[in-house]
Amino acid sequence: MKFFVDTADVAAITELNDLGMVDGVTTNPSLIKKSGRDILEVTREICELVDGPVSAEVIALKSDDMIAEGRKLAEIAENIAVKVPLTWDGLKACKVLSDEGRMVNVTLCFSANQALLAAKAGATFISPFIGRLDDLNIDGMELIADIREIYDNYGFETQILAASIRTANHMSEAAKIGADVATAPPNVIHAMASHVLTDKGLDAFVKDAKDAGIKIV
Ligand code: E4P
Repeated sequence: MKFFVDTADVAAITELNDLGMVDGVTTNPSLIKKSGRDILEVTREICELVDGPVSAEVIALKSDDMIAEGRKLAEIAENIAVKVPLTWDGLKACKVLSDEGRMVNVTLCFSANQALLAAKAGATFISPFIGRLDDLNIDGMELIADIREIYDNYGFETQILAASIRTANHMSEAAKIGADVATAPPNVIHAMASHVLTDKGLDAFVKDAKDAGIKIV
């Protein structure tokens, strides 16, 4: 499973990228707002840092306007994936932009039917939002599994990009189901390294090393 980082924080992306943990980046208007940066400027900087796809989201609601914004965003760099919402207008924009050979990430997907339409419209990525479904007591992972089954049944090439990931468990569950990509905030990727037994075991090793006067360098 590929790892995308769900942030517009360049320092956080750089740290993970240096560790080889970044196969791509996803942003959205809320993440751009949080960064306090200009969308075109920060997106350009991220595209220069990262080799993989960098999703940049349109803000228009009408397909023609989304297409114009998508073309402008795609001019930033070759690795831009234009992010459009899963609305009827978004699907129209997806079809036009993907026919032009651009990568398109269809976002705000909450049902298998929506994912089916995005694949038909030529989406490169479909972004089902796990965490926001979980917030409503609906199992977000079930949606990932349903989309996996449907796409595999018909050989759709659209990649399943598990989004709205809130916990480290979401990452392993998405990987078990076979999501192609998961996009997670930096803190969740860090949390994947943590285990209470690792901390406990390390405390004991540190103590024993000290007691025994072990020195290596
Ligand atoms: C995905 O591309 C979105 O930017 C993101 O995963 C949304 O996550 P949230 O529900 O935590 O805002």
